[in-house]
Amino acid sequence: MAHTARRWYLAKHANTEIQPDTFEFREEPIPDLEAGELLVRTIYLSLDATNRVWISTWDQYMDPVNPGEPMRGFVCGEVIESRNPAFQAGEIVAGMHSWSDYFVTDGTSFSVFPELPGVDLSEAFGTLAIAGPTAHVGLLEVGQAKSGDTVVVSAAAGAVGMLVGQIARLKGCHTIGIAGGADKCARLTEQFGYDAAIDYRREDVGQRLKALAPEGIDLLFENVGGDILDAGLAAMKNFGRVVICGLISTYNQSGEPVPGPYMFRNVIMRRLTIKGFVILDYVDELPGVVQELAGWMLEGKLRFRVHVVDGLEQAVDALKLLYTGGNHGKLMVKIGEERR
Ligand SMILES: NC(=O)c1ccc[n+]([C@@H]2O[C@H](COP(=O)([O-])OP(=O)(O)OC[C@H]3O[C@@H](n4cnc5c(N)ncnc54)[C@H](OP(=O)(O)O)[C@@H]3O)[C@@H](O)[C@H]2O)c1
Repeated sequence: MAHTARRWYLAKHANTEIQPDTFEFREEPIPDLEAGELLVRTIYLSLDATNRVWISTWDQYMDPVNPGEPMRGFVCGEVIESRNPAFQAGEIVAGMHSWSDYFVTDGTSFSVFPELPGVDLSEAFGTLAIAGPTAHVGLLEVGQAKSGDTVVVSAAAGAVGMLVGQIARLKGCHTIGIAGGADKCARLTEQFGYDAAIDYRREDVGQRLKALAPEGIDLLFENVGGDILDAGLAAMKNFGRVVICGLISTYNQSGEPVPGPYMFRNVIMRRLTIKGFVILDYVDELPGVVQELAGWMLEGKLRFRVHVVDGLEQAVDALKLLYTGGNHGKLMVKIGEERR
């Protein structure tokens, strides 16, 4: 059994790009378990756009990670030893903890992860931990998507976006995805069921939205912000809904005020409803949401793409991929083998 754990710590808050001295890698002894605790061997670490928010000094929706604290993330792993009756050695569990290869927890935020026959753990964890619930709740509960809606999604080839498009299609919506680059756009229509794709790196998003949705957008699922949000706001239908799921284009600029949307006047001109949400507020709904998502996965109705980077040492460099579009699918780090 391992006697030491390797772990990333935050060394300095970062309000612009992550720097070489933003994080620090340490090795430390694994403490003996107290009553109620369990020792987990991490298998996958999910890298999420919001990790960047947590290490900034922004006023945010939960406590930031402060210098000197372990970097926080969503993880899944195998219970190695347990002094907590809710968890048994050998079980696969998922929850929020640190960027490390082994960790001790009292089990808060952890649950046994469902086994989906025929589905890889990376795919199941990538879909069911954060991205899937965010897509499901954001689209159906916050956005109230209904059959016949024209739904536009930004960062559509990413973890959340690829699922929003597929769920919207399952619900009978017409779907338009916005992503960067020809490969990602091809994937939108060929694999993720989008009716049309817009390559924001090559095309005028505003003009393309007018051409693809001449009657206007019913539901804008926003993951990016900035010019892309503006183009969406300009193309909304009267009484349309805008779900603010994320504003990733602004996360590396948290040290300065970020300009608001230029087309904000359309909130009144088009009588729009804009709603922001954070998936962590929906814990009560999660069991039902996860069950529905898992059902769709088992029936082959949801396709998912993971982008797995090998090795805990690579976690910081891997995180940067999210903000350049370098990830091609749900970004995660493989820290340990699925089975020993
Ligand atoms: N509200 C919630 O509870 C919640 C939960 C999870 C995630 N989110 C949000 O969902 C969004 C997607 O997160 P994710 O974890 O699924 O990541 P992801 O979409 O898999 O990866 C991020 C993608 O964002 C795009 N992007 C990054 N910087 C951009 C820029 N400046 N302009 C345009 N596009 C840019 C890139 O795609 P391209 O190559 O297409 O540019 C990149 O691949 C984020 O905004 C995140 O904050 C919200």
